[in-house]
Amino acid sequence: MAQEDFLPLNGTDFVEFWVGNAKQVAHYYQTAFGFQPLAYAGLETGVKDRTSYVLRQDKITFIFTTSLVPDTEISQHCNKHGDGVKYVALWVDDATKSYEETVKRGAKSYMKPTTEKDENGEVVMSGIHTYGETIHLFVERKNYKGIFLPGFVKWDPLYKPVDVGLKYVDHMVGNVGWNEMNVWAKFYADVMGFKQLISFDDKDISTEYTALMSKVMANSNMRIKFPINEPAVGKKKSQIEEYIDFYQGPGVQHVAMATDNIVKTVTALRNRGVEFLKVPMTYYSTVLERVGEIDEELAPLAELGILIDRDDEGYLLQIFTKPVEDRPTVFYEIIQRKGAKSFGKGNFKALFESIELEQESRGTL
Ligand code: FE2
Repeated sequence: MAQEDFLPLNGTDFVEFWVGNAKQVAHYYQTAFGFQPLAYAGLETGVKDRTSYVLRQDKITFIFTTSLVPDTEISQHCNKHGDGVKYVALWVDDATKSYEETVKRGAKSYMKPTTEKDENGEVVMSGIHTYGETIHLFVERKNYKGIFLPGFVKWDPLYKPVDVGLKYVDHMVGNVGWNEMNVWAKFYADVMGFKQLISFDDKDISTEYTALMSKVMANSNMRIKFPINEPAVGKKKSQIEEYIDFYQGPGVQHVAMATDNIVKTVTALRNRGVEFLKVPMTYYSTVLERVGEIDEELAPLAELGILIDRDDEGYLLQIFTKPVEDRPTVFYEIIQRKGAKSFGKGNFKALFESIELEQESRGTL
């Protein structure tokens, strides 16, 4: 009989970024990525030291928070890391039990279970540390009817560009330092009860110049998937090492967002200013030999630079943005799954050669 899951997770609740200028970042995610305004907290709602904008697209909720004063945890975080992910919040039915079960298995406490109330009910939140300065929050909202969380008001600006068809967070990748991948894979296994789905070593993920290693950890219902990357030795500097240099430590590398029409979504994103990595056109002259027949026309995929890979269960279409900020740190993946449950191993080489060209132009290879 299967063991009972001590940490049942309903999905990703929200991802909170700590940024230098939340107003302008929120505008970028509306304009470029089609997120819709949802909620706001700041001076007008009685918060004195920070401002937060909450944006949503289908099941994906992002918060962008900035500090209004110097020397806060938020302003120090931005000073050190640049704009980056602080909270990866997980939606649970019992935030107290989630906290107790993980802390008892060795998680470092960030926030004891705390209840916030307003006229719409109550939310219980707790938190534990993960890699770097990143935090997992557990959010229990079954007794809450409000727009987002207590303390937030509806944010309803005039400007509302349409969405681009992004549906849910497929996976979120963490970059950790040398020899730390196994430490964090073990953390997700021991402390959170995750299982290892896949492991890639430097022979799977290497080009002539650079290499990395990765283990994908997933919870029991597979709604939460966290690949963990570490750099590997190559002739030149791994993209993971470049990230860690610029982020000044481990952190979230990319968020993969699912769509059910990648050509439409990526066309819209590109028209709205999102920049994507491009693979050489030669990729498309042999790709169908590797992946077999697909439902889509190849020409639009090639035109947009969308990559294709297949596993035993089906195939997937994926593409990666360039970093969305000036430090070469956080970026996004857009993914459409057509049966495949894997992560695009067949594309790694072409993709990393493309990233190396970008690194070369930054002088960080
Ligand atoms: Fe990914």
